Amino acid sequence: MVNSLDFVKVTESAALAASRWMGRGERDAADGAAVEKMREALGKMDIAGRIVIGEGERDEAPMLYIGEEVGRGGVPVDIAVDPVEGTNLVANGLPNSIAVMAIAERGGLLHAPDSYMKKLAVGPKAAEFVHIDAPVRENLEAVANALEKPLNDICVVILDRPRHAELIREVREAGARIKLISDGDVDACIATAIETTGIHVAMGTGGAPEGVLAAAAIKCLGGNFMGRLQPRNQEEAERAIAMGFGDLDRVLEIDDLVKSDDVIFCATGITDGDLMEGVRFFGNHARTHSILVHAGGTVRMIESVHRLGARPSGR
Ligand code: FBP
Repeated sequence: MVNSLDFVKVTESAALAASRWMGRGERDAADGAAVEKMREALGKMDIAGRIVIGEGERDEAPMLYIGEEVGRGGVPVDIAVDPVEGTNLVANGLPNSIAVMAIAERGGLLHAPDSYMKKLAVGPKAAEFVHIDAPVRENLEAVANALEKPLNDICVVILDRPRHAELIREVREAGARIKLISDGDVDACIATAIETTGIHVAMGTGGAPEGVLAAAAIKCLGGNFMGRLQPRNQEEAERAIAMGFGDLDRVLEIDDLVKSDDVIFCATGITDGDLMEGVRFFGNHARTHSILVHAGGTVRMIESVHRLGARPSGR
């Protein structure tokens, strides 16, 4: 039987490795270090794991590629990973980069193509009152009503991209507040489902694989996440069709993205963020903050202190 705390060790390992690269301007090095440590940690687990969302296809990713088998054998599970969600954030020492992973029974997580996805995320109270196809103002009013707040208290997180100019205009016109982020929409989506973050809605288009990871956490937390694939070009559209997406326009409900009711999500902060603090080094130790959530809805915030490096033998 796998102890779900063991999964936290995996994101902790990735976060510790990536955090050494904070602010050094080298996003690939940060990602590479995290991938290696995450894979090493997964290799020690008693699971028959299969990567369904990872670093890419086998030929372009030497480690944690889609389809890679991980673990020492045991419970068969599908795993979605993003060893560094927000590589630019780490490279520039900016907030909200996390190491992240979702685990479910085989077939429990959507195999999302490496494409874009239009997303809408809200927390539990507003879950049943929004729809990705509803006008922006309507969704925001629904969230405000559900949370019993005036609309101008509502905070919407949006990736700061030119493609969101119209969305930003509509949110402003509706009267809600906006937090623009440069990267890292997994963290932003999850924040909507945790009341203390002060973030109520996440909207806009970002990575499709990140959408599945966010949906896994939100499903555990009881919020709502809806998506729709947005291929950037013909090649991405064809790839999605080849992966079995018959109707690319279809709304992907949370249960389409995360079919399993028995999903585990965990993440560890690399840099400080809305959900977790980043890695702190002190003396020969480092402290990490992680979040672990199960389908049951229990949220565990885990602080760990790690001793770094091996002690000389005999001491
Ligand atoms: P990486 O960690 O792969 O750099 O992704 C960061 C991210 O900001 C995601 O959170 C988001 O879904 C996606 O990139 C947005 O893509 P783009 O930068 O192309 O707009």
